[in-house]
Amino acid sequence: METTEIKPGVYWVGAIDWDVRNFHGYLTQRGTTYNAYLIIDEKVVLVDTVKAHLADEMLARIRAIIDPAKIDYIVSNHVEMDHSGSISAVLEHAPSAKVITSTMGAKGLKRHYKADWDLQVVKSGDTLSIGKRTLAFVHVPMVHWPDSMVTYIHEDRLLLPNDGFGQHIASSERFDDELDWGILREEAAKYYANIILPFGANVQKAMESLGGLDIDMIAPSHGIIWRSHIPDILAEYQKWSTYATETCAVIVYDSMWGSTQKMAHALGDGLRETGVHVHHHNLKHTHISDVMTDVLTARLVCIGSPTLNNGILPTVGAFLTYVKGLRPEKRFGFAFGSYGWGGQAVKEIETVMDGLKWERPEDGVRITYIPDEDELDAVRETGRALGKQIRD
Ligand code: FEO
Repeated sequence: METTEIKPGVYWVGAIDWDVRNFHGYLTQRGTTYNAYLIIDEKVVLVDTVKAHLADEMLARIRAIIDPAKIDYIVSNHVEMDHSGSISAVLEHAPSAKVITSTMGAKGLKRHYKADWDLQVVKSGDTLSIGKRTLAFVHVPMVHWPDSMVTYIHEDRLLLPNDGFGQHIASSERFDDELDWGILREEAAKYYANIILPFGANVQKAMESLGGLDIDMIAPSHGIIWRSHIPDILAEYQKWSTYATETCAVIVYDSMWGSTQKMAHALGDGLRETGVHVHHHNLKHTHISDVMTDVLTARLVCIGSPTLNNGILPTVGAFLTYVKGLRPEKRFGFAFGSYGWGGQAVKEIETVMDGLKWERPEDGVRITYIPDEDELDAVRETGRALGKQIRD
C-alpha cells in the first residue's frame, strides 16, 4: 500500500474514497479522501483517522511504515466521523495510545463512541514535545464544529488544519502542483460554500490566530495538500470569509410548464446586457450543492418558482432551506415566478431573502399563467435595472 512522505518523517496515511458521490447531501462528483498523517519521532503520533469503512486501508498504510502498536498518540482534531471513525480500530492495535482532543472534542468523542478511551484534553495554545518536534494545538471553534482544532508543527512549517482548506477530490496525486489550479479552486470553493460559509467571522478569527505562523505546507483532512498554491488559497479564504462578491449573478429556479423558465431566461438576457456574468441553474438538473459554488461569490441571487398548492415548488423549497442554513451575507436578491391564481411563491422567496438581510433593489415579479412578449420585455428591463445596480 503506497504512502507519501510529505515532510521527512511525516507521512500521509489516509484513505481514498473513490466511490462516494453524496457526502451527507453534498454531491462529491470527484470522490474524496480522508487524510490521516503519521509522525515518526521519539513518540509516534497519528493525526486524525478515516471513515470507519476505510480503516483497513489506513492501517495498511501505517503498517507499511511502522507497527501500529507503536503509536503513542492519536490527535483528534475534529469529532465528525469521517475523521474520528477509525480511532477505535487504531486503539485495537495500540490500546495504550492517548487520544488528544479539545474540551468540546472530548465531549463529542464520548457521545459518539461511548468508550473509555484515554483522553488528553488540550487547551488552545498547548504544546506537546514528541522528540525533535513540538506539536502545537490551536482551537478554531465553529470552523466548522465547536470542537474543531488544528495541529501545527513549527519544525516542519506544517499546518494540519483538518477540514479547513479541504476539497472533495479523490486522486492519485497528493500535492496541489500535481493537479490543475482551476479544478482545485473550484473544489475548494464548493467545499467552502457547502461546509464553512456560515462561519465567516470564525474563519477570520482562526486566520488571525494562525497568521503569525511560519507555514510552507497546509495538509488538510480532505483532498490534496497545499505546498505551491498557499498564497492563492489563503487569498480565496480571505475573500470568501469576508463575503466578498463579484459582478456576477446566479439565477436559480424550477418550472412546471416553462413559464418561470422563460422569465429566468429573459432576466438573464437583461443582466448580461449590462455586463453582468450570469449562471443559470434549473433545479430539475442542478444539485443545490453545485448551485452554492456559484452563490459563494455572486453579488445577486435571483430565485424563481411557480406557485404550487399555494406555495413554492419542493425543489426550490429545498434550495431555500439550504441557503437559509448556509447564510451567505451581503447579497442582493430578486424573486420571480409564474402563477395561476394564488401566486404565493414570490412572497415566500422574498421572506427568506429578507431573513438573510439581502437587499432587494427591485420588487419581485409574478406573471399569470404564460408570459407574453411584452411581459418578457418587462422582465428583461428588470434584469437591466438590477444589473446597473449591482455593477462595480
Ligand atoms: Fe470532514 Fe467536519 O468533517
